[in-house]
Amino acid sequence: MKITPKRNDITIRYIDLFAGIGGFRYAMQDAAKEHDAIAECVFTSEIDKECQKVYKKNFGELPCGDITNISAESIPDHDILLAGFPCQPFSIIGHMKGFHDTRGTLFFDIVRILEEKMPTAFVLENVKLLVGHDKGKTLKTILEVLKDSGYHATYKVLNALDCGLPQKRERVFIVGFREPCFFSWPSDKIPMQPLSNILEKNVPEKYFASDHIRKKRLSKQEPTQEPTIWHENKSGNISAYPFSCALRAGASYNYLLVNGERRLTSREMLRLQGFPEEFQIISSYTQTRKQAGNSLPVPVAKAVIKNTIEASGLLPAVYLYKTDKLIVDGQLRLFEKERKYGEISETPNSRKIQTTLSAQ
Ligand SMILES: C[S@@+](CC[C@H](N)C(=O)[O-])C[C@H]1O[C@@H](n2cnc3c(N)ncnc32)[C@H](O)[C@@H]1O
Repeated sequence: MKITPKRNDITIRYIDLFAGIGGFRYAMQDAAKEHDAIAECVFTSEIDKECQKVYKKNFGELPCGDITNISAESIPDHDILLAGFPCQPFSIIGHMKGFHDTRGTLFFDIVRILEEKMPTAFVLENVKLLVGHDKGKTLKTILEVLKDSGYHATYKVLNALDCGLPQKRERVFIVGFREPCFFSWPSDKIPMQPLSNILEKNVPEKYFASDHIRKKRLSKQEPTQEPTIWHENKSGNISAYPFSCALRAGASYNYLLVNGERRLTSREMLRLQGFPEEFQIISSYTQTRKQAGNSLPVPVAKAVIKNTIEASGLLPAVYLYKTDKLIVDGQLRLFEKERKYGEISETPNSRKIQTTLSAQ
């Protein structure tokens, strides 16, 4: 049973770092709505001028620029920090010894804001590669630094295909809380929408690849009856799937071809990331392709944020939670059944769990 008190007078304040074109913002708005809460964005930062313009057009606010030039004290208080930070620091971060050592990386900027503003929770997003990078050392350092900054953090790789989008896009999400709490990763799989829902009709000629490219594709792959997206891998092999492989900001123009013959339109790329139809496209095709490739699958982020809000204690405690996992000092522990927030655990590990509950 789930008691849902009227909660639409609750406002969750959040910040949107490395905001791009606002994928996280849509996700936050949708997630808050599902809890009958209001999401209020109190600060955004994005360095790219074209993304800033798109963000302003769609959300009415011009993001601040380079985060490295913004003092943490000047950022308004908030409940949740969101950041899809660039992979730039990867190559160096794994060998660093702690927070101060990460100076000069964009991850450092996230941590200095967390330390100053101490939001209740954060959600970070990055490429799956982060998990295995430098034999896991990079992610280990990231989690240690977050722990030293006072957060109980955990991570998981999630796939957009499991959230209903016809795009295979695996991304790592890192979620953290100031207080230990119940948190479960989204586990419900939403059936994938068919590609036909995404594809536009009467696509202009300019999107079609040259005869030479089309013949080359057909020499390596049979035509398909159902719509498919043809993907060219690094070795030049072609595969056709009823979904798209991950959109990439810097990929060649022929990396993904609908039915082996045409490029995805700007609207199709945004649909593949779960952006709503009302999103206004104002950039050139090349810029939108980069923006969509850099963005995140909105429904995946929404599912993660929804569970983060649930676990964070930002909602009234009368709410009943169906959780199966608990973070205790960054470790996940299994729960056996639906439990009320604050109830004493019946699991064997009750000593640790009671410690956790008394901390709330
Ligand atoms: C992986 S993308 C995140 C996209 C975003 N989550 C979205 O849904 O569109 C990273 C973004 O960080 C921005 N960025 C890079 N360095 C930055 C900096 N120093 N300050 C602010 N933004 C920065 C990039 O321009 C890029 O748009």
